[in-house]
Amino acid sequence: MPDTWILKDKSFKKYITNEAIQEKIIALSAQMNTDLEGKKPLFIVVLNGAFIFASDLLKRITVDCEIAFVKLSSYHGTHSSGVVQQIIGLDLDIKGRTIVVIEDIVDTGLTLVSFLETLRKMEPAEVKIASCLLKPEAFKSKFPVDYLCFSIPNEFVVGYGLDYDGLGRNSSDIYKIVE
Ligand code: IMP
Repeated sequence: MPDTWILKDKSFKKYITNEAIQEKIIALSAQMNTDLEGKKPLFIVVLNGAFIFASDLLKRITVDCEIAFVKLSSYHGTHSSGVVQQIIGLDLDIKGRTIVVIEDIVDTGLTLVSFLETLRKMEPAEVKIASCLLKPEAFKSKFPVDYLCFSIPNEFVVGYGLDYDGLGRNSSDIYKIVE
């Protein structure tokens, strides 16, 4: 992919290469394989954004596991709307299970707070979070991000599954906005 990418009215520059992401995923998956051994975890992939990260990460998970998908939405353009809608829900019994939620990015954390609340009512044994990116300056919530590839400044990014108004998901590298 080129160093500069123009999507609609905004310009983005290459920020985190796929090689750097894969390096982090190798370390993260090794840790997860140790922590999750014998727990038969259920991975819940949050669509749409997490599909590429989840695919790369889960190919390196070697413990027995199940994989499910939910679709949540709270974002419009480059700012969080703060209103979370669960679009495609979870239709599995998760009581007593170890759950690992896979996200593309945790920004304010509001999307996950609402989803974690829904999960807790279903009485899982434990819920862990794996995210490719975290914006600590924007993070307003208290839950721990157990497995993380990169902390980044509070700037808008696209690529590797992340979009700007639907565009930009189809890149193996991550780009950041040029203001
Ligand atoms: P939160 O509720 O503020 O944590 O937002 C989480 C969701 O917003 C993520 O799953 C993404 O879909 C989206 N999001 C947050 N920051 C960005 C960004 O920089 N680029 C693209 N999408 C983002």
